[in-house]
Amino acid sequence: MTSGAGQGGAGRPAGAAAERAGGLFITFEGIDGAGKSTHIAALAERLRSQGCEVVLTREPGGSVLAERLRELLLHEPMDALTEALLVFAARRDHLQRSIEPALARGAVVICDRFTDATFAYQGGGRGLDQRVLVRLEAWVQQGRQPDLTFWFDLPPAVAAERRAASRAPDRFEREDEAFFARVRQAYAQRAAAAPQRFVRIDATGTRDAVRAAVEAALAAHPIR
Ligand SMILES: Nc1ncnc2c1ncn2[C@@H]1O[C@H](COP(=O)(O)OP(=O)(O)OP(=O)(O)O)[C@@H](O)[C@H]1O
Ligand SMILES: [Mg+2]
Repeated sequence: MTSGAGQGGAGRPAGAAAERAGGLFITFEGIDGAGKSTHIAALAERLRSQGCEVVLTREPGGSVLAERLRELLLHEPMDALTEALLVFAARRDHLQRSIEPALARGAVVICDRFTDATFAYQGGGRGLDQRVLVRLEAWVQQGRQPDLTFWFDLPPAVAAERRAASRAPDRFEREDEAFFARVRQAYAQRAAAAPQRFVRIDATGTRDAVRAAVEAALAAHPIR
């Protein structure tokens, strides 16, 4: 169900996304404070300047219902399974109301976190059984996966410093460094399991260096 299969052909640069049929689904992943939001905005601006319709969205959230669930997820205490069920309920609504229609009309959808984050936070961070997540993923997504995932990787201590300088922490951001080390490890496992989709970005660099790495990776990535 990868969008656009057979339209562009392997090896065609993703920078030509505006001409593709079937849209392009790009996700940004990484621990809190890695720089996702900063660089999503830059990428969206660049693609729009090339004439692409870009839908910028986020998880949990991205639809009216999912944004309400986000508020609960970020601030209300709950156990790991409840958390995962709410995340996937939000994702289902987000996919149906926003992501799938946008991809169907050929837009580039850029999403701040998606299912890799669920495997990383609820799986790695909270220790929830991955088999439960695999099953929920299959039910909710019906085969839908991102075409390209940028994983912003950096040590938890560096991310914590950046977060401290920028805003008040939510329920996840208050977790300790060991939690984020497990989240990071789970991201590494997801990346190793889907190397054709994942691009690891060294997020320790300057903003300019990270932006250049994202643009180079996008230009080099074949559309699948
Ligand atoms: N390369 C960088 N070097 C130094 N600081 C950075 C860099 N990139 C982003 N920042 C700063 O780090 C902070 C966190 O960045 P940002 O909000 O983009 O991270 P995030 O991955 O979206 O975090 P969250 O998952 O919590 O939303 C911000 O204050 C941002 O300006
Ligand atoms: Mg962010």
